[in-house]
Amino acid sequence: MQFAAPCLLGLEGLAANDLKFKGIDGVRAENGRVLFSGDEQSLVRANICSALCARVFILMAEFEARDFDTLFEGVRAADWSRFIGEHDAFPVKGNSLDSALSSIPACQKIIKKAVVEKLREHYHTSWFDEEGGVHQIQFRIFKDRVSIYLDTTGAALNKRGYRALSGDAPLKETLAAAMVELSRVRSHHTVADPFCGSGTILIEAARKALNIMPGVDRDFAFESWDCIDPALIEKERERAQSEERRDVSFIAYGYDIDEDALELARRNAELARVADRIVFEKRDIRDYTDSLERLSVITNPPYGERMLDIQAARELYGVMGEKFIQKPNHSYTIISPDESFERLFGRAADKRRKLYNGTLKCNVYMYYK
Ligand SMILES: C[S@@+](CC[C@H](N)C(=O)[O-])C[C@H]1O[C@@H](n2cnc3c(N)ncnc32)[C@H](O)[C@@H]1O
Repeated sequence: MQFAAPCLLGLEGLAANDLKFKGIDGVRAENGRVLFSGDEQSLVRANICSALCARVFILMAEFEARDFDTLFEGVRAADWSRFIGEHDAFPVKGNSLDSALSSIPACQKIIKKAVVEKLREHYHTSWFDEEGGVHQIQFRIFKDRVSIYLDTTGAALNKRGYRALSGDAPLKETLAAAMVELSRVRSHHTVADPFCGSGTILIEAARKALNIMPGVDRDFAFESWDCIDPALIEKERERAQSEERRDVSFIAYGYDIDEDALELARRNAELARVADRIVFEKRDIRDYTDSLERLSVITNPPYGERMLDIQAARELYGVMGEKFIQKPNHSYTIISPDESFERLFGRAADKRRKLYNGTLKCNVYMYYK
């Protein structure tokens, strides 16, 4: 099988390395997605273990099409009955950009028709009740290149199963995991987030340090598929669980001025099984100090959307510049969409990395010297 796992723009290389590290072979990064080939075990493992990908798709077909006949034939050629049983549901959704085939409802209809025709030939039936496991078909058409996917994941992989509720401006778990990766968090490290909100960054850091696989506590679409052996799913889950480590010294500190956010963070940390590793405390950045030998600060400070908020946020960048002192064994990893961040912070970053939080262009500023 060929797989394609989409990820946030700018994270492709990191997402590919993460999958390689988790035992997936032949991984290659492309614009906005990671490609690899493998079997059912790779499918299950990538879903359970990927920290940075949004989903794991089976790449059913990829071809050029500028008219409906070509679209129909390209879709029909794929091996649909390998995955979709006689009673399974197979809804179609997708998008198209800069392409001759621009009507989404029309493309949906043609793709559905092509899959039905192929399944009809295989199952010798004229009616599909679609009452079984959901096999979501996704199409993407970009500059007349059509990609047809089958979604094995269900709810996106950033949904780890630990977020009870989210705060005002929660960071996506996959983006938080990317910051943890960029900051090179290890099992013996101490991490702080002075603007922790609902705790996403610290929870992702703790789970990485304890080697808790991101998807181990949640369900996936493929679990309702007849073509995936439940014993294999069980085996992969057990394998992931057996690699968790509690004998590590990782500890983290989360601060925020909002008591409700802190309460949420504590609850989320409990659900994520890392509450014993994170201390959450009410504290204003203006009162932030640290006297630790070694510390990684990873944070997502507020950035305003209205002018007044922008001014307040910018004032905080100056405070951070004063508080985040250059010291040996200290690093600061900060995400912000504000292009003037470094000037306001008062120092040029040792390294910066551009990435997209949805459509919002951000930079991760890294200070470690
Ligand atoms: C962008 S949010 C962080 C979201 C967090 N990463 C999450 O995933 O939930 C910024 C946070 O900074 C907090 N905050 C605002 N001003 C602050 C200050 N002066 N000191 C500390 N925290 C502050 C807000 O309450 C908010 O929770």
